[in-house]
Formats: sequence, C-alpha cells, structure tokens
Amino acid sequence: MCGIVGYIGVKDSLNVLIDGLKRLEYRGYDSSGVSLLCKETGNIKTIKKAGKIKDLEDEFKKNKPCKSHAGIAHTRWATHGEPNDVNAHPHGDCFNKISIVHNGIIENYRSLKNYLAGKGHKFVSETDTEVLAHLIEHFYRKDLIDAVKKALLRVEGTYGIVVISSDHPDMLVAARKGSPLVIGRSDNEMFIASDASAIIAHTNQVLYMQDEDVAVLTKNDIELSKVESAKSIDPEFVEIEMTLSQIEKGGYDHFMLKEIFEQPESLRDTEVGRLDKENGTARLNGIKDYFKKLLDADRIVITACGTSWHASLIGKSLIETYTGIPVEVDYASEFRYRNPIITERTVVIVVSQSGETADTLAALREAKSKGASVLGICNVVGSSIARETDAGIYTHAGPEIGVASTKAFTAQVMAFALLAIGLGRKKLLSFEQGLSLINELEKIPGKVNEILHDKNKIESICRKTYKKKNFLYLGRGFNFPVALEGALKLKEISYIHAEGYPAAEMKHGPIALIDENMPALVIALKDSIYEKIISNIKEIKARKGYVIAIANKGDKEIKDIADDVIYIPETKEEFSPILSIIPLQLIAYKIAVMRGLDVDMPRNLAKSVTVE
Ligand code: G6P
Repeated sequence: MCGIVGYIGVKDSLNVLIDGLKRLEYRGYDSSGVSLLCKETGNIKTIKKAGKIKDLEDEFKKNKPCKSHAGIAHTRWATHGEPNDVNAHPHGDCFNKISIVHNGIIENYRSLKNYLAGKGHKFVSETDTEVLAHLIEHFYRKDLIDAVKKALLRVEGTYGIVVISSDHPDMLVAARKGSPLVIGRSDNEMFIASDASAIIAHTNQVLYMQDEDVAVLTKNDIELSKVESAKSIDPEFVEIEMTLSQIEKGGYDHFMLKEIFEQPESLRDTEVGRLDKENGTARLNGIKDYFKKLLDADRIVITACGTSWHASLIGKSLIETYTGIPVEVDYASEFRYRNPIITERTVVIVVSQSGETADTLAALREAKSKGASVLGICNVVGSSIARETDAGIYTHAGPEIGVASTKAFTAQVMAFALLAIGLGRKKLLSFEQGLSLINELEKIPGKVNEILHDKNKIESICRKTYKKKNFLYLGRGFNFPVALEGALKLKEISYIHAEGYPAAEMKHGPIALIDENMPALVIALKDSIYEKIISNIKEIKARKGYVIAIANKGDKEIKDIADDVIYIPETKEEFSPILSIIPLQLIAYKIAVMRGLDVDMPRNLAKSVTVE
C-alpha cells in the first residue's frame, strides 16, 4: 500500500528520501513522488511519476534536483483516480506553497472539494489527498500547524500525513489517524515514515505516533500534541529491534525465497521461551490475564484476511481439538458488516502479520464496541492491531517483505498450536499428551529445514507445469486450509488461476474441470483420512488428471498412484500444515520465476491493505 518518507536534517534530502522509498517498494505501489524544500530558492520542487521508483529517479536526473535538506516522498497504490503522474503524491495547494503526502482515505472529500472549488481553489488531480492540501491552504494564516489541525478537524476518514510549506523551510508537520507513522531521531536530523523499514538504516531510536497525534519536526527537535489540543505531550522514543540485515535480501534472489528459507529460524523464534516441558504445556505470558476468559468462553471467534485467514482456519481445528470450545472463523471484511453475535463470554482473536490491515482493524473495533475481549496474533510489534487488542501473542517471525506471505503463515500456525496446547491442558489434554505435543513442536523447525534442503523433485515438477493455465489444490482436515493457501500463493505471484478445495468436495463441481492440462496438487499424508484421499486421487487419475502428491517419507503406495510425489517428514496430524505448506510455497516461487515475473512485487497486490 501507500508508503510515506519524510526527512529534515543536514544530509542531501533527495538521497535519503529515494533510499527510503526503495525500502518501501515491497508494500506494493504504482507511482511515486518527492517534494523538496529547496535551499537556494526557498521554493518547493515536486516531481512525480507513474511506474517504478527508478522512473522517478530518472526524472530527477533530467530535471536537476535543487539543493535540499528537507522533503517528503510517497509511493502510491491507487484508490481514488488511476495511477498516473498527476494523481501521484505529493499534492499541492494553488500556489505551490504547501505540499502533502497522505496515506488513508478522506471519506468526505467530495463535499470538501465542492466547497473549496466554490471558493476558487483549482484542482488538478482526481485524488482525495489534493483536497486536504487545499483545505490546509484555506485555513493557512502564516501558522502551518494551526492550519493543519483546523483542516484535520473537518476531515472524515483516515490519514497519516506529512506536510511541508515554503514559508516554513525548517519544519515538517505530521499527523496520524488510522494510518501508521513512525518518527526516527538521530544527531541533527529527523526521519518519518509509514514503516520503520524506511528509516532503520539511519537510526534505531523511534517513536510510534498514536491516533490524533500531531508532530512538528525540526532537525533537532520534536513537538508532539493532539489534533484537538495545543497541550504538548512528552515524546517517548524507544529502541527498535529490527536490523538492516533483516530487511535486506542477504544473497537470495528474492525476499520471498529468503523468507521461505528463514522458516526454521522464524519458527524457533515463535517457540522460544514458550515450550514448558516441566508442565507439559505452552507458556504464553502475553495473554495470561485472559486465559480464564478464554477457558470460560462460550465461543471463540477468529477474524483475519488473506493468508492470516487461512492460518486461522487451522487455528480453529487446533483449538477445538484440544479444548472442545467452539470456534468460528470469519473474514474480517464480512465480520464487521454482518452485525456479529457477541456475548459477554465471546472472545475474539484477530490475526494479522502487519497489524495494519484496515478490515481487520475495523473488525477488532467492532468486536470491542460489542463488549468482547479481543486478543491479537500479530507479527509487527507496536502495530495498530497489537496496540488496540486487550492482549496478544507476537509471532516473532521477523520483518516479512515479500508480498506473498510465507514465514508469517507458519509462525501464525505455530502460535495457534501453542495457544491450543496451553488452553487444552486446562481442558482435554493430559500431562503426557501435552508433553508429547510440546516435544513434537520442538522438532518442527528441524523438519522444515529437512524439506528445504531435500533434493526433491520440485524443480522438475515446476518445469513440467509452469505454462499451465489452471491448477487445483486439494487437501482434507487440517490440510484443507493448506490447499487454500497453496492456491493463493500460486495466484498471487504467478498469475495462474488456482483453486483450493476440500478433496472430497471436488466431486461436487471441480471434477468437471479435470483433464491432462489441469495439474492437481494433493496433500495426501499418512493421517486419519489417508485412505479417503487416496480414493480422491484415484478419481482424478480415472479422468486422466495429472496428480502431484505431497506425501510422507516412506509411503510406497502413493508412488504407484500419483504422477509425481514430493516427500515430507512425518509429524502429528495437527502440526502437518507447517510442513505441507513448504513445498507449495516453493512451487509457487519457482513457477513465478520460470514465468519471468516480479516475485516480490506482484501486480496489483499490496503487502498490507490499509484501505477497506
Ligand atoms: C494482503 C497481503 C496478504 C496478507 C493479507 C492480510 O492481502 O497481500 O499477503 O495475507 O493482506 O494481511 P495481514 O498483515 O493482516 O496478515
């Protein structure tokens, strides 16, 4: 989604801003732009370009940038108006005295635009953001902070903004409501961005802005207040844990591949300090005050989007299996609009890698407004969802840059396994059962490593199939959500149509599609429903389908039935999704590479969808 970078200090601001934008590229965007406060002329110079940041850099080279130590920059993911040079941010006022970058949506922009047009303001773009620039101009009487605050009080919707003015060349004014902004401090310079990854090359001292905060940044100082009040707030900077190497490719061709291979380590990080062998249980300190609430719950409702929703489906089966507590899983975008039934005893769990997905955040707020206790499973520390939930479990998978989520998914399933065991020990699980589960979870990272370094047939299978137009992914029980997730990975990065289905449901529709041109990837592990899935494979073979099976090592029978087999180690049935997804991630990755596609930045997708 859209990304923001701002800088004020002593360095050449263009370099800092472009470098920051490049670090935000992973979020997905279709145009970008920069406004510089020019040292010599005192004017604002803005250049914007549809396409890649490289195109913006080329444009700056052609146009000779001015000398500047302060500026703002943006990557835009189009919502209002098509992705072109004019609609790209920053946006300005009528006289090029004010420039603004904005994430979020101004919902009442039409009425504001009509009002301002009536007052003679001239608009050049179709965006909601340009309206905000003119609204600030409308209120501007030499006091930029006052004008920004007055404008924001008239705005409905969400925003993370940074504003500059040629009348105030020594300051940036930023404000947040619903769209994250993080400020970084160093000697003689201040940074601001929508995502810490854009600034950690410069500093590890950061301040996460809260909703309704207004920050005024000069190169040596920060003043913090609220939109509705001038009273100053003490700025609290914290040390950020993220390191530069975590957000660089480290020798891999793509972030996605790096993140797939990081899974043994990220899974260990999710488990660390949480496997309690002495008591045969999992220790989750973040939610300990809500344990009783969970155990007494009449229902647990899990809500999420995309890959996090798939992990939640596995979470449901895990919790129900070990506790007997009924669990529902809902898309966050549906949950928030269907007036969900929430009682005092309902506990809602929201799951999000980024902690910023707009629909998930809105579902969280809806659940809270109905009186539910809301817990989170999040990856990004300090994110909006992590902050707004009553308590939560961090997955600790480390920064995930590839748009197609991989290590965050396995970490989420691991977090659910830990939660289910912790609760289960107070419900259906004995000490011996709990201990045996904990011992097996401890082995999972090693088994993932084994799959990643196995010289299996993935490469040759991808060669055979990468030109196909459709794929079917089938699984049952705990592995049905893995079929959904495998299909999603392929769709996201290789643009091949893929459907995930419960294997037995195939007979009720998708079987009509089966022929030699539609590969069927079937997860057929030696579990309680193995025989059933073998029958499903036979049904496909009887219709000349091409079957790729994901099977357990040592399964000899499957070789004679499936066309190709990828073997993975055995584990307990309920943990098998963490292993069975690994080959499916690799298949999606390799097929996208063979098709010559931009794996880390697939078209139209955004890493974190911060609009509804
Ligand atoms: C976007 C991403 C997906 C992700 C989903 C939910 O669609 O492209 O990879 O699964 O958002 O994101 P979250 O950060 O809430 O888990």
